[in-house]
Amino acid sequence: MTRTLITGGLVVTAAEEMHADVLIEDQKIVALAATGSSTAAGWQAETVIDAHGQYVIPGGVDAHTHMELPFGGTSASDTFETGTRAAAWGGTTTIVDFAVQPMGGALREGLDAWHAKAEGNCAIDYGFHTIVADVNDAVLKEMELLTASGESTSFKLFMAYPGVFYSDDGRILRAMQTAAHTGALIMMHAENGPAIDVLVAQALAAGHTEPRYHGEVRRELLEAEATHRAIKLAQVAGSPLYVVHVSAGSALAELAAARDQGLPVFGETCPQYLFLSTDNLAEPDFAGAKYVCSTPLRPREHQAQLWRGLRTNDLQVVSTDHCPFCFTGQKELGRGDFSKIPNGLPGVENRMDLLHQAVVEGRISRRRWVEIACATPARMFGLYPRKGTIAPGADADVVVYDPQTVQVLSASTHHMNVDYSAYEGRQVTGRVRTVLSRGTVVLDHGRWLGRAGHGQFLTRATCQYL
Ligand code: URP
Ligand code: ZN
Ligand code: ZN
Ligand code: ZN
Repeated sequence: MTRTLITGGLVVTAAEEMHADVLIEDQKIVALAATGSSTAAGWQAETVIDAHGQYVIPGGVDAHTHMELPFGGTSASDTFETGTRAAAWGGTTTIVDFAVQPMGGALREGLDAWHAKAEGNCAIDYGFHTIVADVNDAVLKEMELLTASGESTSFKLFMAYPGVFYSDDGRILRAMQTAAHTGALIMMHAENGPAIDVLVAQALAAGHTEPRYHGEVRRELLEAEATHRAIKLAQVAGSPLYVVHVSAGSALAELAAARDQGLPVFGETCPQYLFLSTDNLAEPDFAGAKYVCSTPLRPREHQAQLWRGLRTNDLQVVSTDHCPFCFTGQKELGRGDFSKIPNGLPGVENRMDLLHQAVVEGRISRRRWVEIACATPARMFGLYPRKGTIAPGADADVVVYDPQTVQVLSASTHHMNVDYSAYEGRQVTGRVRTVLSRGTVVLDHGRWLGRAGHGQFLTRATCQYL
């Protein structure tokens, strides 16, 4: 047995803050004791990590990533190896990625393909949601079996991207009805895809080919409308609903209204919607392509509404939707036609730091930081209390976080396999100092000690947030 003791830090969980020593045996946290009392209690450990002046927080849980996702004739540039390593550099110790059902194929085929990409390559633990691209009787049966086995207890459907991932309302309703009796969680990409496709064709015909038109045609109203429709469909089916990557204030208002009625609807937003805006999409010389993602970035005034939603708990989770494409050779596929720019932003390494900056600026509390980035995503996707907290019995996924060191985010220093940073030059206060994944120190004082293959696949319970 190996024992590790983390001493003197401020332990921050979603529920409380306490100056405490944390005792780890092998892969698990086994005990906490008020700072100093562990010495008196005679706790011994081979490894002692001094965390005085630091926060000791649960490792981040990023419930929305797309490593190696094929999209628009290319593939997201982070592999499971590079992407999970970058996640750990940024204080995230669990990801939940999306296995994609191939058109005309089974969910099983998608999961097998994603297991093959991830197995033996991940630096941190990982799980899979399943993207359901084609709802039919066999797929509904598969949803039931996957939920029962815990291999995938959440399923993403798309109201956007006709001809690719899109499901019509009838198919969505059937998937929701299945979720209602199995306990699975339906995750929704809520944008009216058929209407957006009309506006895309009209924009291109009018010669509007620049990246900023991506933001203009993917109208806020069409996010709000789809969000409203998804909520009503879930209500008819009697299932809970989790809306991914909420970017528009009016879509958030739909969620808030539903929650005021007592409906089990949940929302996720992402750092790009909290920190970036259509100003970035309008950057000259095609640089706006770096910021093309769906739902799109919105005008700056939406940011305050999203922060408010995080404070009022109308939004419960911040995930990254990490889906990186290099500017050179990938984003450039859309020169002369914004609709050919692969959709997605890099961010898996930046989430914990950007949200800590919001703590520094007084937008959210320290405990709320841990709640939206660690505890609630773990609960939402059936990983709690194994992940997302610091408590006896939890996996020893622990981050020692230095709240005072100032850093500048940049592609020249990040570890994501992508040639630009969406946050280039942005100064943030706070930095990850030490990271443990299941009791193993994978990162310490800027030194990488982890290895591909340390990360294990996680089976999951059904949603624990209801
Ligand atoms: O632009 C994005 N978000 N790309 C990833 C796919 C998705 O819809 O989440
Ligand atoms: Zn000390
Ligand atoms: Zn999506
Ligand atoms: Zn996504």
